[in-house]
Amino acid sequence: MNRLSVKNVSKSFPTLDKSLNVIDNISIDVAENEIVGIIGPSGCGKTTLFNIISKVLPYDSGKITIDSKDLDSKHGICGYMFQEPLLFPWMKALQNIMLSYEVKSIPKEKAKGNAISLLEDFGLSQFANYYPYQLSGGMKQRIALLRTVAFNSKLLLLDEPFGSIDAITRLDLHYYLLEIWKKLNLTILFTTHDIREAILLADRIYVLSKQPATVVDIIKVELDRPRKIEQLTTKKAVAIEKRLIQSLKHTQ
Ligand SMILES: Nc1ncnc2c1ncn2[C@@H]1O[C@H](COP(=O)(O)OP(=O)(O)OP(=O)(O)O)[C@@H](O)[C@H]1O
Ligand SMILES: [Mg+2]
Repeated sequence: MNRLSVKNVSKSFPTLDKSLNVIDNISIDVAENEIVGIIGPSGCGKTTLFNIISKVLPYDSGKITIDSKDLDSKHGICGYMFQEPLLFPWMKALQNIMLSYEVKSIPKEKAKGNAISLLEDFGLSQFANYYPYQLSGGMKQRIALLRTVAFNSKLLLLDEPFGSIDAITRLDLHYYLLEIWKKLNLTILFTTHDIREAILLADRIYVLSKQPATVVDIIKVELDRPRKIEQLTTKKAVAIEKRLIQSLKHTQ
């Protein structure tokens, strides 16, 4: 079953002299438990698409369903991790996570209990009382990930979740995300500019053209799980990488 279905969605922004067509007739499906990656040139409309799916922005035409229900009839259905890390600097790690429960009207004490268990389950309880400025970049991303999961663990939208992180920490975060995904049966749609990150994480990768974004290729990543970085040098992975590079050439 599709957890998320985006069908023939288009979106333009009004500008002073003409309208800017950003997304042109895009269709993307994400099955339950699937990890789907989106890769495409900067400015093609990836964040706009995520803003649409999370109902931050309206769309012009097409249809979006989550669990077969029209998006317009639902609210608060996605956990959305923004491109810029957005932990509230005046709140400790624990409070940042609690907030995701509190906005869903869960009482404070229960929210605290849930947040503490989440931190414990994913090995971060020792950082509960740290403020964001006391955490490393990688730790901040881990807390931000848990906060996203706390808000909604059914469908996660992760917009370049590891864009600002160095390569070694990034790999740790990939494994961390895959661990959370497996334990909590998540469904994930993410964007990236990193071909290898896309291959390591995704079951399928959508390649988008430059603006206005259209789908130029859909690539299946049939690598065994649990995935390890070493798999990226296998023949199968290299063939996928070549196809991705080829498809990306067509996006220019
Ligand atoms: N609210 C808005 N009003 C007008 N134009 C917008 C708005 N939001 C985004 N845009 C424009 O839409 C286009 C797509 O932007 P978007 O942020 O979706 O790109 P992106 O694919 O996420 O890029 P990047 O990979 O750099 O993050 C850009 O030209 C941007 O200027
Ligand atoms: Mg973006």
